[in-house]
Amino acid sequence: MPLSIVILAAGQGKRMRSDLPKVLQPLAGRPLLSHVIATARELEPSAIQVVYGHGGDRVRTALAAAPVTWVLQAEQLGTGHAVAQAMPQVDDRDLVLVLYGDVPLIRADTLRQLVALAGPKRVALLTMELDDPAGYGRIVRSARGEVQRIVEEKDATARVQRIREGNTGVLAAPAKLLRRWLARLRTNNAQGELYLTDIVAMAVKEKIKVAPLVVASPAEVQGVNDKLQLAGVEAAYRARRARELMEAGATLVDPTRVDVRGPLVIGRDVEIDVNVVFEGTVRLGDRVRIGPNCVIRDTEIGDDTQVFPNCVIDRATIGPACNIGPFARFRPSSKLARGVHIGNFVEVKNSVLGEGSKSNHLTYLGDAVVGAKVNVGAGTITCNYDGVNKSQTHIDDGAFIGSGAMLVAPVRIGARATIGAGSVITHDTPPDKLTLERAKQVTIDGWQRPTKKT
Ligand code: UD1
Ligand code: CA
Repeated sequence: MPLSIVILAAGQGKRMRSDLPKVLQPLAGRPLLSHVIATARELEPSAIQVVYGHGGDRVRTALAAAPVTWVLQAEQLGTGHAVAQAMPQVDDRDLVLVLYGDVPLIRADTLRQLVALAGPKRVALLTMELDDPAGYGRIVRSARGEVQRIVEEKDATARVQRIREGNTGVLAAPAKLLRRWLARLRTNNAQGELYLTDIVAMAVKEKIKVAPLVVASPAEVQGVNDKLQLAGVEAAYRARRARELMEAGATLVDPTRVDVRGPLVIGRDVEIDVNVVFEGTVRLGDRVRIGPNCVIRDTEIGDDTQVFPNCVIDRATIGPACNIGPFARFRPSSKLARGVHIGNFVEVKNSVLGEGSKSNHLTYLGDAVVGAKVNVGAGTITCNYDGVNKSQTHIDDGAFIGSGAMLVAPVRIGARATIGAGSVITHDTPPDKLTLERAKQVTIDGWQRPTKKT
């Protein structure tokens, strides 16, 4: 059956005590809801509808690029009412899968299993075994283990409250039957709401099979209602990504202190020290070693490269066998060939460095095109900005830039040229020669230090 996914996201999230709508609260740096949408997309459904309400405009704006249809639930009259808002856009032949914008860790594999249990005449229900099911709807089964109905905690007798199988809320049902059942929901319950969960008893009454799937780990269906639970899912997400990394062969010094927030592809024998954050799409080659306290975003790092502690690397392509840091910073769009060294307190922005070039200390390379085997001395600055325009600095193969040089762009340093320390270079320099710009050193004879007047 074609799959139609409905994500409920109209909740206000009062307990967050935040101006940001609940489903926009960040998990691994992006909104809770975007995680659910990404998982939903893995199932390749024919449509995804998001039922939104509170903070609606902000939610829609924040996720404007998401390939979903937005459905407004102006008033929150219950989960059944929320799903009903999406039904006009659902075809009778579809299977409807209901997800929640504040349950971000649900896995596509689990959902595939659930969907496989549902059909034109079958409802599938995702449940969980809990030590403490307080707050959740309870799954009432017959003596033969067949699901009979779901009872919300507030409507439950003491006997039902002792049931430890809880409702995750996630279910799959055929659209044709679901539409009919939703139309028959009533608010005669403790909360005066239209409960989606009431469709289970309706199905049973019509002899429609309700197939339960007990989720392997309840952590996967943990909902987020407050900042404590938000930190909890963040930790669970971190652990999950760290485990994937170790399964892929990485050595993690401490799996609780690595954050993988986007797609990360690694080679063999990669080592990652503590407090490293990966954001966006990152690729690490074979034997790459990342030291402690690094933030690496949208970057590719070649085989055998070492990143020493405390580096911030944003949108760089770093070649093999490079040494980076400690304390190096890459702002976007730089490209390093093999064996480049970028040392401490060096900032590199939108620059290209050729094979074996080195800039080891206290330098700014911005909009620079650096050839191979160039040595950039300590304290060199490419003066790429005149207050209005950005210009390029070219440093050709084998050039040697003395310490403290100011290279005022646009300017070109010829191949194998040497630049004297402290020079302010404003004109192109020829290859193979020493160029320097420096006031003549003088010594004043007979000069005396001032002394204090008494
Ligand atoms: C619901 C289930 C309960 C289950 C629990 C799991 C019902 C009646 N109960 O209870 O069995 O154990 O989830 O967490 O379904 N929402 C809307 N519009 C509404 C109402 C809710 O979009 O009108 C959304 C909320 O934003 C939230 C989700 O639906 O994401 C669940 O709503 P909530 O009020 O938290 O349901 P519970 O009472 O916790
Ligand atoms: Ca809830």
